[in-house]
Amino acid sequence: MEKVFVVYDSKYGNTKLAAENILEGIREVEGIETAIGYVKDVDIRKVADFDTIVLGAPNHMGRPSQAMKKFVNRLAELDLKSKNVAVFGTYAGKIRTVDRAVKKLGKMVEKKLSNLNLVSPGLSIRVNGIRGPIVEGELSKCVDFGKKLVGQLRSQ
Ligand SMILES: Cc1cc2nc3c(=O)[nH]c(=O)nc-3n(C[C@H](O)[C@H](O)[C@H](O)COP(=O)(O)O)c2cc1C
Repeated sequence: MEKVFVVYDSKYGNTKLAAENILEGIREVEGIETAIGYVKDVDIRKVADFDTIVLGAPNHMGRPSQAMKKFVNRLAELDLKSKNVAVFGTYAGKIRTVDRAVKKLGKMVEKKLSNLNLVSPGLSIRVNGIRGPIVEGELSKCVDFGKKLVGQLRSQ
């Protein structure tokens, strides 16, 4: 059975909600073992044992949040069994298809976890202002992203 772990960072709860909706999309497909966790609470060795890791962070000053950057660095120190990584993020700026912080998270994964496959494109979810809430219509993109991700993994 394929195993997908969603790890998120979130200050005000919006990226957490996006992560939960991605998980919902993944779970709509049968036969996938899933787990989810806040970046500062997850047991990194457990995460490293999953086939696919989905990383999500809020945009902080045009970059993925500090806690997520640290997490990627810690993953890079492990002997990972994982094969794939997908990235997503939330942002409050002007409308973009893929926000620059998500692009940077993807670049970071390609550089630091170069033996893993980065599943693209990443997902960017827009929030209203710093605290949110998530802009209407954006949450369904999360569910779709989760569903499509499983399709991409299975077609490899
Ligand atoms: C310190 C800080 C810096 C931020 N910088 C940006 C930014 O450069 N561009 C942007 O689009 N949003 C920026 N934001 C808005 C965040 O992206 C928004 O707070 C986040 O998506 C909310 O997610 P969360 O509820 O999971 O924390 C910033 C927020 C904070 C707290």
